[in-house]
Amino acid sequence: MTRSFVVGGAGFIGSHLVERLIERGPVTVYDNLSVGKRAFLSHALSRGCELVLGDALDLPALEGAMLGHDTVFHLAANPEARWGLENPRLDLEQGTISTWNVLEAMRRTGAKRLIFASSGTLYGDTPKACAEVDLGSLPISLYGASKFAGEALISAFVACFGLSAWIYRFGNVVGPRGTHGAALDFLNKLKASPRELEVLGDGRQSKPYVYVADCVSGVLFGLDHAREPLNIYNIAPPGFTSVKRIAELCIAASPNPNARIRYTGGERGWPGDVPHSRLDAGKLAALGFRVSRTSDQALEEAVQVLAREVFG
Ligand SMILES: NC(=O)c1ccc[n+]([C@@H]2O[C@H](COP(=O)([O-])OP(=O)(O)OC[C@H]3O[C@@H](n4cnc5c(N)ncnc54)[C@H](O)[C@@H]3O)[C@@H](O)[C@H]2O)c1
Repeated sequence: MTRSFVVGGAGFIGSHLVERLIERGPVTVYDNLSVGKRAFLSHALSRGCELVLGDALDLPALEGAMLGHDTVFHLAANPEARWGLENPRLDLEQGTISTWNVLEAMRRTGAKRLIFASSGTLYGDTPKACAEVDLGSLPISLYGASKFAGEALISAFVACFGLSAWIYRFGNVVGPRGTHGAALDFLNKLKASPRELEVLGDGRQSKPYVYVADCVSGVLFGLDHAREPLNIYNIAPPGFTSVKRIAELCIAASPNPNARIRYTGGERGWPGDVPHSRLDAGKLAALGFRVSRTSDQALEEAVQVLAREVFG
């Protein structure tokens, strides 16, 4: 029986993952609730999941809570690439150091399997559909750089200390309980200013959006089917969706479907934003995994759900 320990498990993706993990064995969530919420775990807590309030930067507390678990999922991070512009230490601490702490706690407690939430931002500013071997273009955000550093640390711990690891580079993940991202941002802006929606950039930025249930299914599928010491997979649907399309969907789902869009201009939303990201998820597909929704379908469904959460 798997004993799972989920760092950052009270957040958006983590809470969906925990609902699936609870079917496989005991689960402990370790989260500082800086973004995540106890309410996101209500279903899992009613089924025996344990929530430990703690910070990934507190190594002794992390180690103490991790003891007795064999499989560690690490999802805690600064969730918004943009925030690194205001606080350049944020991703160093919440991304790189927290990942080292998780690895070191695993080494000390003897936990053997790590599953890491990485990101397609790792591939940097390239319009090419990147496969796992494509790292010719390096990250352009501090967030992406911290994922890159985290992956390098994981590779070293696997080689030096006998861990196994599954690294997943997600596209943009959307769905119920979303805590950040363009769709939620737009809906909150529309709640505050129903007549006009400000959109950063020219609206032509486009990325692959994966529905959170597909993201979690991909993570578990890879864990069950990939058996190398270090396994690296992209998780994304084929295709992509433009920011303009997301803005239109959000306006249509808002109480004022006549709101106008005001673009701030420029090809990227902020320094470090990758305007056109594409992920080649063929490697996980070759193992037999299929997502259930295209990028457009994922967003259409997510915007409906998030609009209900925002507007009630
Ligand atoms: N959402 C996406 O589109 C997306 C895309 C690619 C990668 N990812 C990665 O997936 C992971 C989960 O993302 P999410 O969207 O669920 O974000 P989220 O912010 O909803 O979840 C992160 C959780 O980690 C917790 N946390 C943060 N810092 C912590 C710390 N120092 N100690 C303990 N807990 C801490 C937060 O309270 C939150 O519950 C992150 O690593 C993120 O970088 C997300």
